[in-house]
Amino acid sequence: MAVLGAEDRARAAEIMARYPKGRERAAIIPLLYLVQSVEGHVTRDGLRDVAELLGTTTAEVEAVASFYTMFRLRPTGTHLVNVCTNLSCALVGAWDVFEAAHDATGAPHGGDVSDDGMFTVHEEECLAACDAAPVVQVDFVNHDKVSPERMREIVERLRNGEVPEPARGIAPTDFKHASRILAGLEE
Ligand code: FES
Repeated sequence: MAVLGAEDRARAAEIMARYPKGRERAAIIPLLYLVQSVEGHVTRDGLRDVAELLGTTTAEVEAVASFYTMFRLRPTGTHLVNVCTNLSCALVGAWDVFEAAHDATGAPHGGDVSDDGMFTVHEEECLAACDAAPVVQVDFVNHDKVSPERMREIVERLRNGEVPEPARGIAPTDFKHASRILAGLEE
């Protein structure tokens, strides 16, 4: 069943129109973000929608979607918490932050969704902000020098419907909103 409704298809056309005629396939990344913003992750049906829009195969779209960790091919919570456990972060306590993230959210290890549907915790590779280690991303925005206590506080605020201030930039309200921003459809 199609994921994109009439309004989403109009947004998809806007995205594809950003690219020169004949080069619409370059729109694959923002189209995947669009699909992700609708369902909260990229489903098989979503992959089919993108393939149909671009006149390519589902396998080709899946090859791109499965390469980038920003695309979630599994059910994902309202908020995605990415904890960097790479070297610089691991040296200053990232594993304790990772465990605190699971404990506070109730999300099981392995990237599944917490029972309340609110959180997924993902172990991430270097987020290119090693000077601010340990780094945590919530819905794709960075939080610097996060301690286990700060991790619990961030989760508590999200649970209360607040949007914790990131280290820089503006935080999206949730994972779907973040995907919509990355599709270039919102500021
Ligand atoms: S190792 Fe964590 S941001 Fe680089």
